[in-house]
Amino acid sequence: MIGAQASETRQRIYLDHAATGWPKPPAVYDAMDRFGRQVGASAGRGAYRSASIADEIVASCRRRLARLINNPSPQTIAFFSNGTTALNAAVFGVLGDGDHVITTAIEHNSLLRPLHWLVQHRGIQLDVVPCDDSGRIDPAAIAERLRPATRLVAISHASNVTGAVQDLTAIGDLLRSRNTLLLCDAAQTLGYLPIDMQSSAIDILAAPGHKGACGPLGTGLLALSNKAAAQMRPTIFGGTGSISQQLDMPSTMPGMLEAGNLNVTAIAGWDAGLGVLAGEDLLARLDDQKRIALQLRQVTSELEGVRSITGGDLPIVSLVFDAVDVAMVATLLDTEFGIEVRSGLHCAALIHDFLGTATQGTLRISGGHGTTLDEIDQLGEALQEIATELQLG
Ligand SMILES: Cc1ncc(COP(=O)(O)O)c(C=O)c1O
Repeated sequence: MIGAQASETRQRIYLDHAATGWPKPPAVYDAMDRFGRQVGASAGRGAYRSASIADEIVASCRRRLARLINNPSPQTIAFFSNGTTALNAAVFGVLGDGDHVITTAIEHNSLLRPLHWLVQHRGIQLDVVPCDDSGRIDPAAIAERLRPATRLVAISHASNVTGAVQDLTAIGDLLRSRNTLLLCDAAQTLGYLPIDMQSSAIDILAAPGHKGACGPLGTGLLALSNKAAAQMRPTIFGGTGSISQQLDMPSTMPGMLEAGNLNVTAIAGWDAGLGVLAGEDLLARLDDQKRIALQLRQVTSELEGVRSITGGDLPIVSLVFDAVDVAMVATLLDTEFGIEVRSGLHCAALIHDFLGTATQGTLRISGGHGTTLDEIDQLGEALQEIATELQLG
């Protein structure tokens, strides 16, 4: 199982995979160490032997990503340092003054904040589709808001607060014969759920590499369909190692979006992590994940005085306590039980109004690769103990 070999640093139960995946497959650490010590050259610039090795690592990672998301061309995939920078490149790269955009209440601030800036400074018109009380979006509510001139529909594949997975294929079908681009933020699903850019008609896919996709922190991608690549503009300018006599940025991918040196050390790790992921039995992995999601739902729904909110599709659950602050419970889980979870609003400004959790946010528990049923049981016991101690029931 991916991530099963836990770190030797300290005993801990890590249940904050929605923030970043940990531990990575050992091959990730090995590849980064090997690249740093033995290669260390920049990619896309020199022609000497170690520079060529760096080039091949980057090309291999692009190929693996293209296969993972069924994007026809590895060359329309650009590397970024996280999901946020990829989303910013997408939003600023395709939107113009006054464009109409549809997004949803479940989005992360890495999408909502650039859109909000464009509303304030470039006059884009933004429609925000509400979600239900588990974070699910009705595709019909998107259809109702479409206008002839809608330029972009931007939606997360899954909520980072409740794990509710959206029906991307239904949304893609709405847009297939229109000029509207579909931007999918796959932060919570890349490497966990199958994603098919072609069958879901996704034009732009943005995601961090460091969550389910087994990359280290410092990785992210933006993948474009040919249609989106033809409409994209660069938003960061600089050296690309190509057409250096020209002051214009390259007009083709990936150079158009990749100014400056790539973080090849991290990409080497990501390439190795994607290799491990590709070697796994997808159905067995999906089954494992479903079991963890179910168990998490079970142990958290049994608690007295606690409301458990989840879409049930991924092992992500948000809890609210009748009588105690979620931050206090997170601290107790960490200090008394070595269980690491996150409390607060989870960088999602709008969803809490629909979940009824805007006052203090939620205690978010999120499993990922390598999470075991035993860890979820230990979490359940710890929460029971805390609930009893604080007389929540
Ligand atoms: C749904 C969603 N989108 C975007 C992001 C931003 O990713 P990053 O932290 O890599 O910038 C996150 C991070 O948690 C997320 O959950």
